[in-house]
Amino acid sequence: MPKLTFIGHAAFLLEDDQGNAVAIDPFVEHNPATTLTAREIKAGTILLTHAHNDHVGDTVEIAQNNDAKVICVVELGDWLEGKGVRDVVGANHGGTVEFPGGTVKFVPAWHSSSFTLEDGSAVAPGVPAGLVVRFGGTTYYFAGDTALFGDMRLIGEEGIDVAILPIGDHFTMGPADAARAAELVGAGTVIPCHYNTFPPIRQDPEAFRAAVAKRAPGTEVVVLAPGETYGG
Ligand code: NI
Ligand code: MN
Repeated sequence: MPKLTFIGHAAFLLEDDQGNAVAIDPFVEHNPATTLTAREIKAGTILLTHAHNDHVGDTVEIAQNNDAKVICVVELGDWLEGKGVRDVVGANHGGTVEFPGGTVKFVPAWHSSSFTLEDGSAVAPGVPAGLVVRFGGTTYYFAGDTALFGDMRLIGEEGIDVAILPIGDHFTMGPADAARAAELVGAGTVIPCHYNTFPPIRQDPEAFRAAVAKRAPGTEVVVLAPGETYGG
């Protein structure tokens, strides 16, 4: 199984044993959950769920440092090209894109998608997505920021090994709805994210663990602290 590292918030790094590395939503420099710097993120592929600043994060710098390919929803990709990212692949819901070591399929997410500039104005490139990532023989579902929705059952039919679900509430589903999502997806393992980074999304992951034990008793909950890994 590849090594999945929780950078913090909703940022993850996937590494296989062939030297392929994938950064997902690499929010690093302004991420209160990590002391890492953008310079320390080594990845040949960057996958983005949506345009919000706490997900696009340091994509431009990391892409330039690593000559990385960025794969995201097409309008966000066009916007990133304008910011100086050279290798962008734009996709959309239902589509699958290959990258070194794996594939990503874009699936729906119920959320919004805009990037707030330093002057406070927002540009709104594209729509939010979840990501079904097949990598190193393991299938991951990065739900991105989303509410609970019934078609998570269809996503579960993809055969998800590891589901990464937001539990923070306020901007996404909270622990109770995330436990219902775990039931719909039916993954072997669920990893909570997008909580405890900022005051409005303070949550107890143990409450989520208890809710999943009731709704989806076949699903194991793995709580990762920033910097911790799963698999590898
Ligand atoms: Ni968001
Ligand atoms: Mn977010």
